[in-house]
Amino acid sequence: MIRQLQKDEEIPYDLLLLADETIEAINRYINDSEIFIFEKDNETIAIYVLQKISDYTIEIKNIAVDTKHQGQGIGKLLLRDAIARAKAKGFKTIVIGTGDTAPKQLHLYQKVGFEIFDIKKRFFLDNYPNPIYENGVRLKDMIMLKIELR
Ligand code: COA
Repeated sequence: MIRQLQKDEEIPYDLLLLADETIEAINRYINDSEIFIFEKDNETIAIYVLQKISDYTIEIKNIAVDTKHQGQGIGKLLLRDAIARAKAKGFKTIVIGTGDTAPKQLHLYQKVGFEIFDIKKRFFLDNYPNPIYENGVRLKDMIMLKIELR
């Protein structure tokens, strides 16, 4: 049910935009990343994006589940799939970042084994033209989490 999107297939920006604020921000990583989609009844309902950072590290740059299908375990399934794929490809570390105003996402990542290792201060102030508010708080820092794969 989860498969890699081929280069000649249309990129589902509508899903990617659930997890990232602008198309410009998505386009900074999408062309040298691998995209994986989750399909149900011929409809793409979830997505994640993997980008190689170094010979040892791969990053989940985007993960999103269509709003109608959230809260049903698909996000967790995608994270586990990404971890398994990173391991199978021989990477030593998989990383993921999330905003400092997103406790649900942070909790989900920690549940599947990610641990906080860094905070990119001012990431959302320096990389996005307009202020982003989440849960009524201005998004500033990116919390970085990782799993050491073995
Ligand atoms: N309220 C609170 N916690 C919730 C929740 C809700 N409505 N829905 C899910 N969770 C939490 C629970 O802790 C759940 O764990 P549990 O199954 O042990 O109870 C955990 O998240 C996993 O839920 P799951 O159903 O697998 O998540 P999902 O399919 O909704 O996917 C996201 C999670 C974050 C990918 C999805 O909500 C999404 O696409 N959000 C918008 C885009 C986004 O924020 N992407 C991440 C950018 S950092």
